[in-house]
Amino acid sequence: MTNRRVFLSLAAGASVSSTLVRPLGALAADPPPTCTPFAVAKPYDGAPTPWTQPAAVTLGVRRPAWALSAAEVTRLRRAYAAMRALPASDGRSLAAQRNLHAYYCNGDAYEIHGAWTFLPWHRMLLYFHERILGALIDDPTFRLPYWDWETPEHQAPPPAYADPASNPLFDQHRFLQSGQSVQRWLTNYNTQAKRYYQLTLVHRLMDCTFDQFGGGPQAGGVVEAGAHGYVHVSAGGDATRYDKLPCSGDLAILNTAALDPLFYAHHTNLDRLWRSWEGFGANTNPGGDFAKLTFTFFDERGAWRSMNVAQMADVEHALGYRYETPIAPLMRAMPQAAPPRRIPLPVHGAPAAAAVPPAAIAAAKNPELALSGLVVPGSGDFRLSVTTARGTATLGDLFVVPHGGTAMHEMKPLAFNVCVALPPDSVSILLGGNLRFALEPSSRPAPRGLTAAALPAAQVGKAELILR
Ligand code: C2O
Repeated sequence: MTNRRVFLSLAAGASVSSTLVRPLGALAADPPPTCTPFAVAKPYDGAPTPWTQPAAVTLGVRRPAWALSAAEVTRLRRAYAAMRALPASDGRSLAAQRNLHAYYCNGDAYEIHGAWTFLPWHRMLLYFHERILGALIDDPTFRLPYWDWETPEHQAPPPAYADPASNPLFDQHRFLQSGQSVQRWLTNYNTQAKRYYQLTLVHRLMDCTFDQFGGGPQAGGVVEAGAHGYVHVSAGGDATRYDKLPCSGDLAILNTAALDPLFYAHHTNLDRLWRSWEGFGANTNPGGDFAKLTFTFFDERGAWRSMNVAQMADVEHALGYRYETPIAPLMRAMPQAAPPRRIPLPVHGAPAAAAVPPAAIAAAKNPELALSGLVVPGSGDFRLSVTTARGTATLGDLFVVPHGGTAMHEMKPLAFNVCVALPPDSVSILLGGNLRFALEPSSRPAPRGLTAAALPAAQVGKAELILR
C-alpha cells in the first residue's frame, strides 16, 4: 500500500513565531522508514443487502464521554470487551471495524477521505458501530458517547477511556495519557517546528457553507482538514514522526485509527459538529449526487448492508439518536442584521479586488477567508501563508498525516476547501491584489522532493474574504 491519505489541520489565529522553523535546507536527511503497515483486506466478498429503516426506531441520547455515570461506563466497557472478544473474521469485531475503515481510506480502492464523502460515511459507520455494540450487550438503548474536545476542561482523554491496559476502552498505542490535553503543541521531529490547532475554533464553523464545511465531490472540507486531523495526530502519537512507524500511535494513522475506541468518541463529536451545523440558520446539506452516495457496512448481525445518504436525511427518525447538547455557534449572541459581505479575491495573478470601504473592514467582526480547491502536495506539516503587494500573512498550520505504511512522504496531492478565521491584520494584506498562497512543509524529506527554495505557489481554485 503506497498511497497516503492526509489529515490537514488548519490552525488559524494561532500565532506561531516563525523563528521556530529552521530553514529546510539546513536539515540532515531522514533515516529510511522501517515500519510495516497493517494489512488491509477487502471487508466482504459479495453483494450487500440494502439497509431499510427498522419499523420502530427509538430516539436515544448520545452523551458526553466526560459525563458518563458509573453505570454507563460499565455498560460501554462491557460492549467494547465483547467486541474485542470476537474473532477478526467476524465483521462486528474491533479488528474488522479497523479493517473496514482502513479499506475505505485507500486511494487504490475506495477513498472516503478528502471529499464530501467524509461526513456521511463516518455518520453511517458510527450508526452501525453503535448498533453492533448495543446488540453485543443486548441493550438497544445503548448510544455512543462523544469526546467534546472543544470544551477546554475536557481536552484530556475522557477518564473512562484513559485507564490502563485492563480497560477495553484503552489502547496501548495511544500517545495521549490520562490527564494530558489534546490541545498541545506538536513538535516536528526533524525541524522542531511547532504546530497547533485551536480546537475552540470549531464554534466558528457554523457559518461556513457546506462546500467549505464538509467539502465537495473533489475536495475535503474544513472539518476534516481542521480539528479532525489535529485530534487524530495529537491524541494518537507524535504527529511528526510519520516516517518512524510504528513509533506513531494508532490514532495518528488512518490504517490503524479505528483500533482505538477513542476513535469512535472522536468521530461522534465530529458528527455532533455536523449535526450542530445542520441545525444552524438556513444551513442545509447538498441534494443531488450527495444524497445518492451509497456505502456498505457490517450490521449488528454481521451482515453486509448498504445505505445511502438520502435514507438518513432525517437523522433522529432514521438513525435514532440525538446529541445531549449541540456545539454552539460563536455568532449566536451577535445581531444577524445583514448577510455577510463576500469579496472575491483575485488568485492566479489577477489584479486587486474591488475597493472595499475601509469602514467596512474596520467594522468587520471575525473576518474569514474561504478557499476552495487548495491543493496540498503531500504528507507532512505545512504552514499556509499568503503574499500580496502589501506583505505576507501567516494563515495557519496544516497537518498532513499519512495513511500509514512505508513510503510516508509520497502520495497523490489532495484538495481541500477551508474557511479560515483571519488574524485582524491580515485583512488589508489580503486586499493587496495578486494573491500568492504557499504551503511550507516542515517535515523532512519534504513531499515529492519539495524544498523551501523550490516550493511552488500553492494552487487555489477560488478565494473569498468574508466580512460580517
Ligand atoms: Cu476515517 Cu478520522 O478518519
